[in-house]
Amino acid sequence: LTKQDLLYKGKAKEMYSTEDPEVVWVHYMDQVTAFNGKKKVQMSGKGAANCNISSLIFKDLTANSIPNHFIEQIDDNNQLVKRVNIIPLETVVRNMASGSFERKFATEHLMKFEKPVVEFFYKSDELDDPFINESQAEALGVATPAQMTTMITIALQVNKRLKNIFLNMNIDLVDFKVEFGIDGTGNLILADEISPDSCRLIDKSTGNSLDKDVFRKGLGELVPVYDEILDRLKTVEA
Ligand code: C5P
Repeated sequence: LTKQDLLYKGKAKEMYSTEDPEVVWVHYMDQVTAFNGKKKVQMSGKGAANCNISSLIFKDLTANSIPNHFIEQIDDNNQLVKRVNIIPLETVVRNMASGSFERKFATEHLMKFEKPVVEFFYKSDELDDPFINESQAEALGVATPAQMTTMITIALQVNKRLKNIFLNMNIDLVDFKVEFGIDGTGNLILADEISPDSCRLIDKSTGNSLDKDVFRKGLGELVPVYDEILDRLKTVEA
């Protein structure tokens, strides 16, 4: 299959049609953004790191029977995925308090939760991705309660698996975001990417952030950090 027409250009990826109507070509760009695109920088090697990381993680999820859109990796910056209709919700799972949770509830930084916390945010740049609950999403026609129950179940399965993978990499998984879509046969599956752009990862030995917080907070060079994640992931997924 080859790359055809540009379907969609996001903040970190471009999606292209292919000769197969059920298959989409994803190109990971060398661009990083934060604060809903307000901070934006070109960064050589960033797309490759995320494409490689996301491909390895989706392969692992497939091997663990967690339904997702990943088909295959083409090269360092490109993947083929199943075409889905994206549900405009971001599903966030948290194992420890950080980011918007910590700000909202004034908790201790990295306070550990007994059980993972699941939250939904409505994907809207104009509205700054507001928090949304199940009945609000149903009222807006964004997702049905049954779909949201499935999303919570899958997100928690992903959390179990990711926590384990990162633990083997000497990393605490603080939180992460996933997105879902409906495929051609009506199944609800994981879509988008799973990478240090969408996870908070803390090195267990040093306490250092190994994710996009390095960029958000201006803590240093981002690409070497993502390459470090990729190296450790390759050793545990070998
Ligand atoms: O900012 P907040 O604490 O709500 O983020 C929770 C998790 O979701 C973090 O891992 C963050 O990287 C991810 N996230 C994301 N895309 C967004 C918002 C949050 O990947 N638009």
